[in-house]
Amino acid sequence: MLKTLRDVEVAGKRVLVRVDFNVPLKEGKVADDTRIRAALPTIRYLVERQARVILVSHLGRPKGKVDERYRLDPVAARLEELLGKRVVKVDDCIGEAPRAAVEAMEPGDVVLLENVRFYPEEEKNDREFARQLAELADLYVNDAFGTAHRAHASTEGVARFLPAVAGFLMEKEISVLSQVLERPVRPFVALLGGAKVSDKIGVVENLLGRVDALLIGGGMANTFLAARGCKMGKSLLEPDRLELAREIMEKAGEKNVKVLLPVDLVVARAAEPGAESMVVPADGVPEEWMALDIGPQTVALFARELARAGTVLWNGPMGVFEMEPYAAGTLGVARALAESGATAVVGGGDTAAAVEKAGVADKMYHVSTGGGASLEFLEGKVLPGVAVLMEKAG
Ligand code: 3PG
Repeated sequence: MLKTLRDVEVAGKRVLVRVDFNVPLKEGKVADDTRIRAALPTIRYLVERQARVILVSHLGRPKGKVDERYRLDPVAARLEELLGKRVVKVDDCIGEAPRAAVEAMEPGDVVLLENVRFYPEEEKNDREFARQLAELADLYVNDAFGTAHRAHASTEGVARFLPAVAGFLMEKEISVLSQVLERPVRPFVALLGGAKVSDKIGVVENLLGRVDALLIGGGMANTFLAARGCKMGKSLLEPDRLELAREIMEKAGEKNVKVLLPVDLVVARAAEPGAESMVVPADGVPEEWMALDIGPQTVALFARELARAGTVLWNGPMGVFEMEPYAAGTLGVARALAESGATAVVGGGDTAAAVEKAGVADKMYHVSTGGGASLEFLEGKVLPGVAVLMEKAG
């Protein structure tokens, strides 16, 4: 068990909190504040207990250089609104300006440092850079689950210089995802989608020994259907993964894991909203057409399976749901999952956006703030940002 904020004395301390404020911006404003809201319990707890709260995050991929588009000022403004409290934004993350800002802090104050990826040292996990970050504080809290799969200076290196504990978001993400992997209420169903088999292979392999059923949709289903002998027309396919898809289905059979593939598909002549489209049986994709969503019979088939499930883990959309004509499958399973009564855990940026779009995010047991991080966790990997945190004794 990880040590958390609750296990350490924070009053009066300078606490460096790594958060994942890598949020979408639009016209200079935060377009989706989910990740900022998710960090509020940790920040509020520290503020209430009179800690000096120094927040550090990355935003986007500025490649180790100052890039005006990725400054954290819009994030500071949104955080200020949500906290109802002043947030002092500093335009650097090491050196004189942050030092002076921290020195000027009163207990309960909040400072947000500049985008830590403006320094190439961050992604290189440079020891000296991590030391300088650590110098600002007495305690390190990692609440950035979304970035915990990166061994960077602010997620990993810094923990070597300070006592390091988990924040509440980190604690919740790890405990929910571990519970699903280790002690799921059965039947345990994994609903997997997204474009490619190759992106999900690690997850599939780790889940095969744990789940009772595997429901596969999205682009990756095309490769599985092709492996079963279906002609897929112009659909996205990974010919070099056909053998792997066959092996997965074989292994699933040996382990008594039910594998459900689409029985019908929405096909179109092009991956465009206005293209001519129709619903066909999964083994009937015409030559010049491509599959872009699962069909209504598949939604019904998957919904029946979800209704029987005790736990459902969902990662990856069922089709190109950003385009209205191909969104019904993804939104349909999102609604079915919301009504299923199962403990529903949703991982991955696109899938989180899908439950949001379907209006059912609050019906899920947990929507992970991690994209890559939740995938790697579900693959069974130890996340570097977690490995460096202190464990509770006993
Ligand atoms: C994410 O959005 O998945 C995290 O913030 C990590 O961002 P990265 O993929 O740029 O490291």
